[in-house]
Amino acid sequence: MANPFYITTPIFYVNDVPHIGHAYTTVVTDVLAGYHKLFGDETFFLTGTDEHGQKSQNAALARGVTPQAHVDEIAAVVQRTWDEMHIKYDIFMRTTAEFHKKVVQDCLQELFLRDEIYLHEYEGWYCVSEELFYTEKDLVNGKTPSGKDVTKISEKNYFFRMSKYQSRLIEYIEKNPDFIQPAGKRSETLGFLKSPLSDLCISRPKSRLAWGIELPFDKTYVTYVWFDALLNYLSGIGFKQEAAKQAKFERFWPTAVHIIGKDILTTHTVYWPTMLMALGLPLPKTIFAHGWWLTPTGSKMSKSEGFVVAPLQVKDLVGLEPFRYFLVRDIHFGNDASFSTELVINRINSELANGLGNSLSRSTNLVEKYFGGLIPQKTSDHPATLELIAKAEKVAPAVKAAILALEPHNAVGQVVELIYALSKYLDILAPWTSAKTNLPLAGEALYTTLEVLRIAGILLSPVMPEKMAELLRQVGFEGAIKYADAEKFGLLVPQTKISKVPPMFPRIELASIVRETPPLSPRKL
Ligand code: MSP
Repeated sequence: MANPFYITTPIFYVNDVPHIGHAYTTVVTDVLAGYHKLFGDETFFLTGTDEHGQKSQNAALARGVTPQAHVDEIAAVVQRTWDEMHIKYDIFMRTTAEFHKKVVQDCLQELFLRDEIYLHEYEGWYCVSEELFYTEKDLVNGKTPSGKDVTKISEKNYFFRMSKYQSRLIEYIEKNPDFIQPAGKRSETLGFLKSPLSDLCISRPKSRLAWGIELPFDKTYVTYVWFDALLNYLSGIGFKQEAAKQAKFERFWPTAVHIIGKDILTTHTVYWPTMLMALGLPLPKTIFAHGWWLTPTGSKMSKSEGFVVAPLQVKDLVGLEPFRYFLVRDIHFGNDASFSTELVINRINSELANGLGNSLSRSTNLVEKYFGGLIPQKTSDHPATLELIAKAEKVAPAVKAAILALEPHNAVGQVVELIYALSKYLDILAPWTSAKTNLPLAGEALYTTLEVLRIAGILLSPVMPEKMAELLRQVGFEGAIKYADAEKFGLLVPQTKISKVPPMFPRIELASIVRETPPLSPRKL
């Protein structure tokens, strides 16, 4: 039976439409899921929307619509955006779905009955935009550590005994180095856990916030949005549902990989594991926090910073799959990077237009011109051919290792290295010249080139599924795309008919784009 693999994105707030930062998380997760499918794993990919809480209520109020109408509208925009970016999620979770609300209430009830949740009079500082409580000592110059405004509140609330799990969590993180990645984020969490952990306020009085899941044991309160949202990772895979779904949950849950942005580290590496411990459940396998796309002035790209790039506009500029390629390739997964249209275009031109696309059109063109469109015989007499074959056969395991190490940029980088090696090889064997004097040598160069392209096509298929399926057909390779076929050199059948192909990745001229398109801005609803 195939290995189960469960991967998630954060579920997105619906106070606004997605920008490139949200698209990044989702594309990278889609690509990781795609690689696992290619490796033959039984993959389940969850994404969705986080629809309750103050942010949604305020956004609805500002637009003069009901919260439900507002969340329905924005959730549809988010889902449509991911569909337009060919994100192949298995479930689009919405926290307003009835089955999710029931799971949240069941968990709350269970924890309440076990005295993991208690009522307590609370006085402190609350930040609306972060939906977080702060104590006096947490504040920096009267604001949250990230500079957001707080208001003083005093009220009775329900608390989850998070502090009780502090030492167990520290021990778990120390014993499981892969649990929080990259290593810097693991240290950051351990650093955070050096100070005493407070209990977590998990309720909001309805008088202050009506838009949430009602507490099953007190109808005057709704559930704190993070407590509600985090549980989507369980409800979305079948937890506390009918037998078949529960079985799915049990099989997939321990394999869970949560891909998140570094802005939501503590909620995922402290709140979430302690909630799971209280529920008596295993922890996810890995929580990976990636970096941010920054604005030209170096701050996190977000609506409040006033500079956002709409993913669908970039897609319209450069094409969907090259854009997906850029997102995965350009950021070292885990680090920050600045975004600019110029970077996207340069990357696409140098690696896709010049590298991959050029080798494909040149080789198919020569096969048509000198070999009647039939794949030449497989020979490997030239030392450069042997060297390239040896290199090509090492790429699939290297890509697999990079994906298992959560280094998608490196997986793509391995294929790029192979394409560079191919370009150099073509320069050495120069089939465009040798075809006139030494046809077998040209044939050897072209067979080897088509084979390397076939291997690259399989290995890049999770990043650019449609383009790579097209490339595989163009080099004469039909059938299902399988990882095992990328491990072997020499599967193309000589004498198979192929045709010359037009450039798969036409060069994009920066000048013309700057002139012809308006500045990138968020999409209007
Ligand atoms: N709703 C919560 C998550 C709940 S998960 C149980 C949330 N939503 S969000 O819409 O604000 O952001 C979701 C994610 O978008 C972030 O964690 C991060 O992954 C991604 N990004 C948002 N802005 C980003 C950048 N500028 N750059 C890269 N990713 C960023 O937080």
